[in-house]
Amino acid sequence: PRHYALIPAAGVGARMAADGPKQYLTVGGKPMLRHALEAFLASDRIAHTYIVVSPADGQIDAVVPPGLDGVTVLRCGGATRMESVQNALHALRAQVRDGDSILVHDAARPGLTPELIARLIDGVAGDPAGGLLALPVVDTVKRAAGGQVATVPRDGLWLAQTPQMFSYALLRRALDAATDASAVTDDASAVEALGLSPRLVPGDPRNLKVTLPADVRIAEMYLAQPTT
Ligand code: CTP
Ligand code: MG
Repeated sequence: PRHYALIPAAGVGARMAADGPKQYLTVGGKPMLRHALEAFLASDRIAHTYIVVSPADGQIDAVVPPGLDGVTVLRCGGATRMESVQNALHALRAQVRDGDSILVHDAARPGLTPELIARLIDGVAGDPAGGLLALPVVDTVKRAAGGQVATVPRDGLWLAQTPQMFSYALLRRALDAATDASAVTDDASAVEALGLSPRLVPGDPRNLKVTLPADVRIAEMYLAQPTT
């Protein structure tokens, strides 16, 4: 079975509140999406990379020139991340087999490396439930509900990263079964809702998701460091 990468890049970046979608923000000299793409292109484990953008996207050709080897742009992004991934999976039904693996990775995580891609693939090691990069929670966590504040033991708590890797058939089944698209903020949550337990593979803090303006500076600091 082959491994394919899928980068959802059809968001608007509302929380970043920049001039345009955050995947096109320059971070460390390149658009964030380009960093994510180059990690997959540099990996010898990935058969092909797909990027899903909004049908209205006018910037993708400047960042991913048509004809660039190893990558295909799909212009079928949807209103939510889940819909974008679903539409892309549907568009790939003739190219990808049920038993192939899809690694779904946020365009807004420029710190991905070929080493992390290999760590995920080796860590999941064919587990039928798939898996994801994740980091153990190090902070003390509080839950505030109904006027009551409580400390949630951080033991066993992890922060989900991407890539998240599942067989094509499982990911399609999980997303098609999900009822609330806005609740599916990552692909693993849809798989968990089927009663499966995706594997947690230790990720890296440098693979952070750039969500708020301050995250850009942190990502730039990491990108400026030598890797390893
Ligand atoms: N994404 C997508 N289609 C959507 C929404 C999000 O492909 N309709 C992608 C984003 O482009 C991003 C990834 O999913 O690469 C993670 O989403 P997020 O960080 O939430 O990005 P945005 O949705 O763009 O940001 P915000 O939620 O602040 O608007
Ligand atoms: Mg979003």
